Amino acid sequence: MDYVQQRVAQEAAKEGGASSALFTPLNFLLLGLVLYTTVSFLKPKAPITLPKEEPAVVFRTFTPRTLLPYNGENGQPVYLAVRGRVFDVSRGRNFYGPGGPYENFAGRDASRGLAKGSFDEEMLTKDLDGPLDPLTDLSRDELEAMAGWEERFLEKYLVVGKLVAVGDEDKEESKE
Ligand code: HEM
Repeated sequence: MDYVQQRVAQEAAKEGGASSALFTPLNFLLLGLVLYTTVSFLKPKAPITLPKEEPAVVFRTFTPRTLLPYNGENGQPVYLAVRGRVFDVSRGRNFYGPGGPYENFAGRDASRGLAKGSFDEEMLTKDLDGPLDPLTDLSRDELEAMAGWEERFLEKYLVVGKLVAVGDEDKEESKE
């Protein structure tokens, strides 16, 4: 074989070697990676859904009478008032909802009952159209107990309004 033929044969052998060098495990891996990225890029994406917004809280003015229906019955939320603040305690429906141990407070001014640690009927405002319970006769301990509940409720529940006596609704609103 003369020199030229020898060189051609050498080159041909080299080319064959180069093409087999393409099929290395690393190249297969890279090809797989490129294919995967391309396919996942082209795949139609699920439409983005925004998390549902909590219903906006409208701060309202309640009187003992308008607070009364919020006792958790008929699918109503459960509200109760402490020292003029109305809390939405629906999250604690097990406590305050129908059949719960503290259902007597649902839809009511619970201040006195919480202060005295009593579920007695006379703890609740009797005349729903009369003045609010002034709570002026409570002892220091009772006031402290009430404040403790208030603090707990402020941490746990949303304030959805304030409680005023019948006739004071407009007075209170014009102050805001
Ligand atoms: C025999 C006495 C009592 C026992 C064994 C008792 C037991 C309990 C228990 C286990 C809880 C649940 C606590 C939690 O998971 O956060 C609770 C909550 C509560 N208790 Fe009592 N309780 C008693 C008396 C009272 C009294 C006298 C009052 C006030 C009048 C009262 C008012 C409340 C209130 C308002 C909650 C719910 C607080 C919330 O909404 O997170 N409890 N009670």
